[in-house]
Amino acid sequence: MIEIRHLSEHVGKSVTVHGWVETTRAHGKVAFLTVRDGTGVVQGVVVKGQVEEATWSLHGSLTYEALVAVTGEVKEEPRAPGGFELGVTNLSLLAPSPDYPIQPKEHGVDFLLDHRHLWLRSSLQRAGLRVRAEVEQSIHDFFYQRGFVRIDTPILTGSIGEHAGTLFETDYFGERAFLAQTGQLYVEAACPAFRRVYCFGPTFRAEKSKTRRHLTEFWMVEPEVAFADSNDNMRLQEELVSYLVERALERCAEELKVLERDTTRLERVKPPFPRISYSDAVEELRAGGKEIEWGQDLGAQDEAALTDRRDLPLFVHDYPKEAKAFYMKENPADPRTVLCDDLLVPEGYGEIIGGSQREDDLERLRARIREQGLPEEAYSWYLDLRRYGTFPHSGFGLGVERAVAWITGRHHIRELIPFPRLMNRLHP
Ligand code: 4AD
Ligand code: MG
Repeated sequence: MIEIRHLSEHVGKSVTVHGWVETTRAHGKVAFLTVRDGTGVVQGVVVKGQVEEATWSLHGSLTYEALVAVTGEVKEEPRAPGGFELGVTNLSLLAPSPDYPIQPKEHGVDFLLDHRHLWLRSSLQRAGLRVRAEVEQSIHDFFYQRGFVRIDTPILTGSIGEHAGTLFETDYFGERAFLAQTGQLYVEAACPAFRRVYCFGPTFRAEKSKTRRHLTEFWMVEPEVAFADSNDNMRLQEELVSYLVERALERCAEELKVLERDTTRLERVKPPFPRISYSDAVEELRAGGKEIEWGQDLGAQDEAALTDRRDLPLFVHDYPKEAKAFYMKENPADPRTVLCDDLLVPEGYGEIIGGSQREDDLERLRARIREQGLPEEAYSWYLDLRRYGTFPHSGFGLGVERAVAWITGRHHIRELIPFPRLMNRLHP
């Protein structure tokens, strides 16, 4: 057995491929099938009279996703998917697939999500998930090349990382525990040990929203850098995002074509990205006729209005304190605001990154924890970081599914994670 990706090394020779049937069709005495083995897709041509009757009749009975062994001679065929073709000499059935639920017709998305374990095999899903895998690898490469140390942070935690509203709570031998909303507090702790660190893992939010950009379980990469201020932080973000886009364009061209992604806008994604303060963004939205009060967080429509006028991803920085998490540093130039940023991407995808400089003053941080009604005892270890050699530092979180949805041009982020967890979906 050989892998389809290696067919080019076997031109003119007879090989055997094992794979799942994607399509079959017949015109009189000539029949075709396409087979996928996970490394590629190849078309086989079967000619009646030139193969044994068993092979001919097996072809006629094949169903979607049956597993077959195909033996035949490898030919170059520029018009065939993948560029090669097999002149079939023998076909055998390795595993049947009667009544495969997903047929080449319009299925509702609920049906497809119910069959996610099978839907993964289809070409658009494969393309999207391969881009995801490339983006994840690029994230590790980016940070590794810059001397960051990867820190794996706990998923079961006693401290609320973001806000109390979206916690999954569980019983931890009689104590209250939460599924982590973020690894940030823990990478902050690792920062004085290694200076530049990041975590990468699943995070959980009991989001009661059914939008195209919310999952209850999503993956986030969170770097944290000692001695970096909010400006340095935004620079790192634009470098990371540009690198991820560049790598996807370079190494996933085939997948982006399958996804029919218009890549011209992605090609322009290079630093520096434009920056606008929250206050100026509110002015701009008002001037455009939107009703928005200073102090309100920006909604999806506000974000879209801001990015629609721009080509590149856009930083909105220095949001009002009330709209943001407790750990963000007060802005000395305008104490109503904090030193933070959201990175908004074009084409309606909105926020893919939230970042900030962290409050490094013990008393101010304690006051913020109290103001937000968070249980101070649970943060005593976190406050230690401000007691023992406190230092300026900044970091951010990039949501992998949102970033990949934007890069691939898929509408809903649920397609960019192998098994999405949504408010109304825990299976399969
Ligand atoms: O803005 P967020 O909540 O920031 C944090 O969690 C910080 N602790 C990050 C840090 O500074 N280390 O989330 C960061 C990103 C968002 O910009 C978004 O891309 C993604 O995580 N995200 C979600 N993605 C999918 N579904 C959800 N429910 C998400 N919530 C946030
Ligand atoms: Mg955010």
